[in-house]
Amino acid sequence: MCGIIGITGAGAVVPRLIDSLKRLEYRGYDSAGIAAVVDGRIERRRAKGKIRELEAVLAAEPLSGTIGIGHTRWATHGAPTTANAHPHKAGRVCLVHNGIIENFAELKAELEAEGRVFESQTDTEVVAHLLDHKLAAGLTPLDAFKATLDRLTGAYALAVLIEGEDDLILGARRGSPLVVGWGEGEMYLGSDALAVGPFTQKISYLEEGDYVAMTRSGARMFDASGHPADRPVVQVSASSAMVEKGAYRHFMEKEVHEQPDSVQHTLSEYLDLVTGAAKPQSVDFAAVDRIQIIACGTAFYAGQIGKYAFEKYAGLPCDVEIASEFRYRSPALTPGTVAVAVSQSGETADTLASLTWCKAQGLKTAAVVNVHTSSMAREADVLWPTHAGPEIGVASTKAFTAQVSALLALAVAAGVARGKIDATREAELVKALFEAPRLIAEALQMDGQIRAIAHDLAKATDVLFLGRGAMFPLAMEGALKLKEISYIHAEGYAAGELKHGPIALVDEKTPIIALAPLDEVYEKTASNLQEVAARGGPVVMIAPASAPAPHGAGIRRVDAPDCHPLIAPLVYAVPVQLLAYYTAVQKGTDVDQPRNLAKSVTVE
Ligand code: F6R
Repeated sequence: MCGIIGITGAGAVVPRLIDSLKRLEYRGYDSAGIAAVVDGRIERRRAKGKIRELEAVLAAEPLSGTIGIGHTRWATHGAPTTANAHPHKAGRVCLVHNGIIENFAELKAELEAEGRVFESQTDTEVVAHLLDHKLAAGLTPLDAFKATLDRLTGAYALAVLIEGEDDLILGARRGSPLVVGWGEGEMYLGSDALAVGPFTQKISYLEEGDYVAMTRSGARMFDASGHPADRPVVQVSASSAMVEKGAYRHFMEKEVHEQPDSVQHTLSEYLDLVTGAAKPQSVDFAAVDRIQIIACGTAFYAGQIGKYAFEKYAGLPCDVEIASEFRYRSPALTPGTVAVAVSQSGETADTLASLTWCKAQGLKTAAVVNVHTSSMAREADVLWPTHAGPEIGVASTKAFTAQVSALLALAVAAGVARGKIDATREAELVKALFEAPRLIAEALQMDGQIRAIAHDLAKATDVLFLGRGAMFPLAMEGALKLKEISYIHAEGYAAGELKHGPIALVDEKTPIIALAPLDEVYEKTASNLQEVAARGGPVVMIAPASAPAPHGAGIRRVDAPDCHPLIAPLVYAVPVQLLAYYTAVQKGTDVDQPRNLAKSVTVE
């Protein structure tokens, strides 16, 4: 969750870059750096550690300049060293980046073959070299930038300085947010409203795929296809962006859109894209007999998705239980069991009590939690953090996908440790996981299709969600989301279970939402849907466009991105969340604070 700031200033920028980075330090603090144009040349200062280390470097080697960029890093690819700290420089180009360049290895090989020498282990440096290469070929900065962006696969936010351009910062966003701030005779670029908060409250939110050329007097914005795109200027309040909705109507909507970032940062805790390997864990999975996950609500469904992964990829038996049941039924657990609490808040009373009970039984305990200072984080032997950032909406969204990300990554780590996954398979699975942020960003583009479905769903009194494999717990999560915020009765079922009873509920007034990624059980799910459609049930099938259409009328398709089956629960979580969100908006409910609910349930 790196932080980005850029200023095309009317006066000195360095103190203000530092001021902004301090506000962004919550996004990452293992290294920081700034670059400024000084007498037509770009100079940079970088330091490992917190912003105060960078300040010490600046005290020893001051930097002036009226145009500059800054970055605070949360290491994803490459260790947190000064050499890997941003900004990265190549020829005339100096830039900062938040996100993942998935095809960096291929681009790096191409650039190295042309004689370019890299000085860091980051994925970011390839972008600097690529852009410099295009400039050297004679393209204008804007054309070179567009041509560079067209070569990148992945999720990113970028801020770029070019030597010889004393009144220009280029920016781009895909998957990771970026805002343009409007000042008096100067302009700002930031990873969120908080970054530019000390300087302006007038902000334009770049949209997915947008890029921008920013000077002191204004900003020219373009959409992904290069057409001019004027994004509206909105007034934000002076308070922290962490508790602001920004351009979004609700926190839930904002948090759904933050998922490319939160998933990436959570995955990076456990996996290394550069080496294609799972990072070693403090739990010796080879010596573990069984995983016992304990959780409530949405976290319980994340745990169930984790179960599919632990058993499939690591051959590690895994049970998942609702904490309020677990804690009162004297479960029989074997000594080789690791008890894993999954919780956003880390304070849920039943989950915490279950964790404490397991610890008292002498079991090794771990906590997958989002609040790293919480009771569960402190109680467990091992902390497995998620990096969703603060979740304000009562209905959990980005915390859920962060939990799923952590569990999937841990399942891969367990598979490697237990000899179930060889190096080739490990590289394939790690690569697949790091594709999730981009594909989540793509799934967010399903917005229009989902709104149309939500319009109809808002009229229903009952809705069924269906899925097989890891899509079954996601179906239950989809039903929970819809119930919670739209107050429509909904249930999630295993698609193959329907004919054992619930199919009696099917009639023309009961919408059926089917989650059908192209995996090994796709054909089975498709035939279950034909059974439902044959009984008059209006089916909405969320599946990749490439999936063969099931026979039979009455099945409405919604196109989802193609993805590796491992990450399907992450990618398909997006339409499920958007469906609940737009249905609730359509019904006019209190989306962020639905009736009768609380964010942290500290009573049993
Ligand atoms: C649903 C939701 C709840 C929580 C549950 C557990 O959207 O948010 O079901 O998942 O109350 O909370 P945590 O994860 O804080 O233990």
